[in-house]
Amino acid sequence: MTLDAVLARIDADLPQATDRLLDLLRIPSISTDPAFEGDCDTAADWLVADLQSLGVKAEKRPTPGHPMVVGHVEGDGPHLLFYGHYDVQPVDPLDLWDRDPFDPEIQDTDAGKVIRGRGSSDDKGQLMTFVEACRAWKAEHGTLPCRITFFFEGEEESGSPSLVPFMQENAEELKSDLALICDTGLFESRVPAIVTMLRGLLGEEITVTAPDKDLHSGMYGGIAMNPIRVLSRVLASLHDDTGRITVPGFYDGVPELPDNIRQQWQGLAFDHAKFLGDVDLSVPAGEVDRTPIEMIWSRPTCEINGIWGGYTGAGFKTVLPSKAQAKVSFRLVGDQDPLVIRESFRQMVRDAMPPDCEVEFHGHGAGSASITETTDPAFEQARTALSDEWNIPAAYVGCGGSIPIAGHFQDILGTTPMLVGFGKDDDQIHSPNEKYDLESFHKGIRSWARILDALT
Ligand code: BES
Ligand code: ZN
Repeated sequence: MTLDAVLARIDADLPQATDRLLDLLRIPSISTDPAFEGDCDTAADWLVADLQSLGVKAEKRPTPGHPMVVGHVEGDGPHLLFYGHYDVQPVDPLDLWDRDPFDPEIQDTDAGKVIRGRGSSDDKGQLMTFVEACRAWKAEHGTLPCRITFFFEGEEESGSPSLVPFMQENAEELKSDLALICDTGLFESRVPAIVTMLRGLLGEEITVTAPDKDLHSGMYGGIAMNPIRVLSRVLASLHDDTGRITVPGFYDGVPELPDNIRQQWQGLAFDHAKFLGDVDLSVPAGEVDRTPIEMIWSRPTCEINGIWGGYTGAGFKTVLPSKAQAKVSFRLVGDQDPLVIRESFRQMVRDAMPPDCEVEFHGHGAGSASITETTDPAFEQARTALSDEWNIPAAYVGCGGSIPIAGHFQDILGTTPMLVGFGKDDDQIHSPNEKYDLESFHKGIRSWARILDALT
């Protein structure tokens, strides 16, 4: 009965909850761009004040990068930690947005109401689903249901550079019985899901230099080494004709899918034609002998994220460039070791350099994959709670994306992470016109209230 009262309060308070989220979305907390450092700080302050309004002892905690927000409430029963990130991705290309990314609004669309704006889905809207569930709980009961630690990060979108030292230094404070993470999505945009497998991520930037300055391609073309030619050849050699990655030793530590998981995933009947069709594609482009769901959830990848060099402006310039550059990332699974792969990749690129070419590397984030055991009864309790809210059985799923903290909860704190989120495939996270369905926000809040009720 009391859960019903909390749910009713959530329904009644939705307009105010939405206004609070819009307020947070107006703060341009882009973590990767130093120009927005002050805004990241403002977002952290906003969250501290909001948690304090719930009676949470919250504070902004400095790091060498953007601050963490940590808050505690005491209580009986399990000690739950909730994690979300308040930083967002850059907004470029700005001209593809239909409105200012940081002037969010509720829009009516054919598919229902959406909250439009950068961070609405990844991750401010998701983070606030938990906070709003707590607000409604507190309003009905006068207290929160158990001991809760709130832990918000401001650097997730830039590889979480301060996270590991912070977790190590504050391990005793952050250790808990279960870490709830709201930064993932629904399966096929409608089935509530608990993510049990996340891929790791390794980022590398390559610069190939040949002549010491840009040259006239008529005067030097043919005799001078062209670094774009060299770089594109190396990049093209990273996959073979079957879609396998050719970096030596790359597949060391990549497990075959256990039969029980393979069967469970088959039961999900993933509609890859729709998934690809929604972005105007039709043919899975990964390893030829793998199913589409494996390609996204349980196989490693190598993607070229950016490539530049020479003249790319308007018109035409007959230049033979001095430099060629690319950003390459690898999604990792199982026990693949990011640092071993980084070294092997660099060696492969070095070995491919012809005379007169120099190559330099700049490493970006490096994190391993993580897998969560679901043996803790809390998982089935949460799954039932989610199934009740969405009127459809919740599923255990994989996720192609990476959330570095999930692995760190296990390695550093010995705390099991439980990943539950309400994003939809068409939320356009990291892209122009990001949105979060009002349904995701509303039912997300209700889902957390049900999960809190089930776990306490
Ligand atoms: N929320 C995403 C992770 C995610 C992606 C969940 C897709 C569900 C579907 C997260 O904020 C993110 O984008 N992470 C980055 C990793 C980071 C190290 C830059 C990613 O996966 O690229
Ligand atoms: Zn996120």
